Amino acid sequence: MALNRRQFLQASTATLASTSLVACGGEEPVVIDTSLPVGPFNAYSTAEEVTSGIDLTGKTALVTGCNSGIGYETMRVLALRGAHVFGTGRTLEKAQKACASVSGKTTPVALELSDFDSCVACARAVAAQTDSLDILIPNAGIGSFSDFELINGIEKIFVVNYLGHVVLTMNLLPLVQAAERGRIVHVGSQMGYKSTPEAGIDFDNLRGEAEFDAFEAYGRSKLANALFSLKLSMMLDPAKTTSNVVHPGFVDSNIGRNADGIIGFLYNTVADLIKKDVAEGAATQVYVATNPLLEGVSGAYFEDCNPVRINIPNHVFDVELANRLWRETQEMVGSYYSGTLSA
Ligand SMILES: NC(=O)c1ccc[n+]([C@@H]2O[C@H](COP(=O)([O-])OP(=O)(O)OC[C@H]3O[C@@H](n4cnc5c(N)ncnc54)[C@H](OP(=O)(O)O)[C@@H]3O)[C@@H](O)[C@H]2O)c1
Repeated sequence: MALNRRQFLQASTATLASTSLVACGGEEPVVIDTSLPVGPFNAYSTAEEVTSGIDLTGKTALVTGCNSGIGYETMRVLALRGAHVFGTGRTLEKAQKACASVSGKTTPVALELSDFDSCVACARAVAAQTDSLDILIPNAGIGSFSDFELINGIEKIFVVNYLGHVVLTMNLLPLVQAAERGRIVHVGSQMGYKSTPEAGIDFDNLRGEAEFDAFEAYGRSKLANALFSLKLSMMLDPAKTTSNVVHPGFVDSNIGRNADGIIGFLYNTVADLIKKDVAEGAATQVYVATNPLLEGVSGAYFEDCNPVRINIPNHVFDVELANRLWRETQEMVGSYYSGTLSA
């Protein structure tokens, strides 16, 4: 994949920015939101540490992308704590292999996010095996190291990271609502406020109408994850079902597997020095999915195991944009789920 100079600079900036380290003298881009419960954990906490003493026996969870990186560790630790975890892979074989390699109760399911029929089938397969889902973590995703491609006429990163998860989540929502207290934890990214088009979601460029910028496309898809979380939090009763979004950190996973050239070299070698390992990378989403402190907390955004406010211009809490995205989303994929919620 050829990268232009801007993409190179954005990747370098993203690499540095993702460490959560603040440049000397600069204002913190995010600050802990003390209006919400703040726990004792931080960027170096691991998924095992944040669940120490938490018994998930009797709980049911679903994690997408269970065969790799953050999703694998998320599934492993939830199962370790006693949850029955449905783990999805792009093929049943991949999911089976991952599920078989962890201790505890896991069930493999196939899910190809670029195929909306597969998303519906995945939800149906899960519904055939459980009456409720306490935890839903739409975690799978592709990074910014990919070329422009349309899937059913819509840009691929947006389809895989966002639209596929909307179809899956909306089809699983009755199960999450059937749980005594269901939690949906969306996996966003700092790139959702550091690397988006100016408008946040450029609705006039979702079908390849203008120039393709892979980093902006990734940021846009991750902002869409955050806005979907916000929209769900507005539509659901937080006393019963919560919806939050996290940035896992800059994590040493397989997400940079397609990076090549100088960027690929830097991303997969030098950047390793500042990346979290997957045990730390899974901590924030596992914390938000399980910690009793967060009962009833919905519509929040988390980094390094804490709720944060964003101090730089962003669209993460933009209600108007969330509403517009929801309307456009229903036009794009609304036929794949029956709406039990009002917009
Ligand atoms: N790593 C980071 O620094 C970082 C930072 C911010 C946010 N995130 C987010 O964290 C999440 C997990 O990523 P990761 O870092 O753990 O990356 P990863 O190791 O590459 O894992 C990604 C997972 O998503 C699955 N996936 C990819 N395309 C899919 C598709 N079309 N349908 C279904 N599943 C698909 C992959 O399956 P295959 O293995 O079969 O391709 C894999 O299981 C992503 O949402 C990512 O955006 C990561």
